Amino acid sequence: MYPFQITSFEQYKETYQESINHPEKFWAAVAENFQWRKKWDNVLNWNFKEPKVEWFSGAKLNITENCIDRHLATMGDKPAIIWEPNNPDERTRTVTYNRLHKRVCQFAQVLKNNGVKKGDRVCIYMGMIPELAYAILGCARIGAIHSVIFGGFSAQSIADRLFDAQAEYIVTCDGAYRGGKDIPLKSVIDDALIGNRTVKKVIVYTRTRTPVSMLKGRDLWWEDEMEYAETQIEKEGVVSFPAEEMDAEDPLFILYTSGSTGKPKGVVHTCAGYMVWTTYTFVNVFQYKPGDLFFCTADIGWITGHSYIVYGPLSAGGTSVMFEGIPTYPDAGRFWDIIDKYKVNILYTAPTAIRSLMGFGLEPLKGKDLSSLKILGTVGEPINEEAWHWYDENIGKKKCPVVDTWWQTETGGILISNLAGITPSKPSWATLPMPGVQLVIVDENGKEVREKDDTGFLKGNLCIKAPWPAIIRTTYGDHDRCRKNYFETYPNLYFTGDGALKDDIGNYRITGRVDDVLNVSGHRIGTAEVENAINMHAGVVESAVVGYPHDLKGQGIYAFVIDNNRHGDEDLTRKDILQTVTRIIGPIAKPDKIQFVKGLPKTRSGKIMRRILRKIAEGDLNNLGDITTLLDPGVVEEIKKGKL
Ligand code: PRX
Repeated sequence: MYPFQITSFEQYKETYQESINHPEKFWAAVAENFQWRKKWDNVLNWNFKEPKVEWFSGAKLNITENCIDRHLATMGDKPAIIWEPNNPDERTRTVTYNRLHKRVCQFAQVLKNNGVKKGDRVCIYMGMIPELAYAILGCARIGAIHSVIFGGFSAQSIADRLFDAQAEYIVTCDGAYRGGKDIPLKSVIDDALIGNRTVKKVIVYTRTRTPVSMLKGRDLWWEDEMEYAETQIEKEGVVSFPAEEMDAEDPLFILYTSGSTGKPKGVVHTCAGYMVWTTYTFVNVFQYKPGDLFFCTADIGWITGHSYIVYGPLSAGGTSVMFEGIPTYPDAGRFWDIIDKYKVNILYTAPTAIRSLMGFGLEPLKGKDLSSLKILGTVGEPINEEAWHWYDENIGKKKCPVVDTWWQTETGGILISNLAGITPSKPSWATLPMPGVQLVIVDENGKEVREKDDTGFLKGNLCIKAPWPAIIRTTYGDHDRCRKNYFETYPNLYFTGDGALKDDIGNYRITGRVDDVLNVSGHRIGTAEVENAINMHAGVVESAVVGYPHDLKGQGIYAFVIDNNRHGDEDLTRKDILQTVTRIIGPIAKPDKIQFVKGLPKTRSGKIMRRILRKIAEGDLNNLGDITTLLDPGVVEEIKKGKL
């Protein structure tokens, strides 16, 4: 009755309306396109007060049967994953659906052999190799909850996440290749495990064959375990490992993300709703057609990789290109080489990558055939018009629709985007909501904004009125944190933390975070988290961190630091602080600028006035607003003078 794939603007409008007027009927119809062991009793139960959201409750399924098994009869030999190594001279790998099935079953058996059960937490810290996908899907197959940690996080960050998730198992590699670097993943894990008492087993895949310590009884080689599992489950050339029957609302994974408090939150997604949403949005936003080759350049350590390298494309029976390296290695033509080599049809990348590649000019594009491209996408941060046009003109040659997709770790999949070639695009605007997504712009008090501002747009904080299937269900181990973070600011609304504009047609433009969260190269970092890390440095008395506009990264990190000036050598102290942040969080959180100050602008009640620091960091020195309420307005002059 409702088309799974929307094929015209008219149809989008009708579908959107239907999804709002009859959400249960609509999503039940969409869900018919999946494989269920048992169908749902109820499509949706919810309240945003607790919050409690249940989609398709009573249904039984396993997401890996949807991502793999259901495709085997008709396209077992079709590539599910095409893997491009960091080093272009190394052999590439093509993983067919049959092969994926075999490996995932094998790895599920490995997990079982090592005592992993449904509901157990498995931490995955690996580079971008097919084994990472096997590990994720192997967990999903037996119902274990995976928690992937991005390779740029430090041992301390991993230790915190292991503790929070009470993880008992780890899957990692000896090392990972990223551009010219070898990252010693196992050694970082070893550091993270000092003092840890919950982790029972660490499975180590050999990628770089860098020397690693292997503790008897705890550390196991992936290869040995897989070989043993193969002999166990192979019967007459047929491999099978029965998928665990999961409830619709059983947790599928945890993914940690930064908020405005000092501690990252474990965002929990569940099986059925996440599967339906990632598949539906993949097929519609990118207008996926059977046979299309889809290249998402994200790392699987972030939500984009979970939803649009692994779950969405595989559930749709697509072929996902997985790239181990970075866009500038061995040179800035690497993405274009990959597109040319495999004849990629859909490219999904981040504004920060586009801006960085723009900086190399058109030379790296010379001789690269990009004519296979049909659709371009961006995600992760607002895209500036210049980058949008560069992408459209030089990569898409003005014949590929550009989709600007807005979403978050907490939303599981894309919530606002044009549908490629179906609904109109508008440079630097994410445009229209997906079916089922009811947006509202509110003011500081939670009142719906109905009056346009002087630019002719509705402007305010972006909220959502009702649940979509992949909404965050909880923050792991602390449900009240979930309520406080997302559902308390404005009663009965999900608060995104983003500011937005809305035009007369109903298009949305995301202007950026309105809370204390930074978006650095598309990575989310909480200012409080960075401050905590800086404050761990022995010489630091106090610090305040704000964002400032950065040409390549979107936002840079600016730290104002009061130190005890023990060495008298600012530069050395600065380096010490960077080292400390790298240890506590990881290199991604290193401040771009550290300004030493004697005092911070505080109110009489002791609250730091970040508004003032933000203005100074942005270089807007003459528009600091009212500073008379400060305890000591004199500090502002000193800070202004020392601006970097
Ligand atoms: O501020 C928004 C920005 O990224 C935040 C979510 O970050 P994260 O959970 O790490 O997920 C990133 C990948 C989905 C949002 O709150 N953001 C994401 N996409 C866009 C965006 N800002 C503007 N335009 C986008 N298309």
